[in-house]
Amino acid sequence: MTRDKDTISRFHDRYSLPVTDAALAVEKEVIGANVAASGYTTVKQADALIPELRLRPGTLLLDVGAGRGWPGLYLAEETGCDVVLADIPAPGLATAVKRANEAGLSNRTSPVRAAAQYLPFQSGMFDAVVHTDTL
Ligand SMILES: C[S@@+](CC[C@H](N)C(=O)[O-])C[C@H]1O[C@@H](n2cnc3c(N)ncnc32)[C@H](O)[C@@H]1O
Repeated sequence: MTRDKDTISRFHDRYSLPVTDAALAVEKEVIGANVAASGYTTVKQADALIPELRLRPGTLLLDVGAGRGWPGLYLAEETGCDVVLADIPAPGLATAVKRANEAGLSNRTSPVRAAAQYLPFQSGMFDAVVHTDTL
């Protein structure tokens, strides 16, 4: 549990920092675009999830450990699906909400502060679940 708390605290601090031009340049080079990634999942890998998860308008996707909304927001934008973004650090989810608003996705995006071990959802309510660099 202490290790878990350390991880969450580390991400809370990271998501509270301003994003530098250098970080954006590295993200674009490594991930393939500026998508507010906090892990190593590339745009190409996220694209591969779309047919795998059969995402389309009307499907409900859960992104566990969504950070600042990657890849959940991207998948919602690309496919028209609805997305629930679950994570613990509030600054990350706040950025995700801002990004959803800017992309016109706020009516299809729901942020939820929740630990992966204690998800407050009914069984079977999601059509697909994704987690990138979380477990
Ligand atoms: C490496 S980041 C990846 C974030 C995002 N999925 C991405 O690919 O950019 C790992 C994320 O997992 C979250 N996380 C770690 N332990 C968690 C837990 N027990 N429940 C929910 N989220 C957790 C962290 O807060 C962090 O946002």
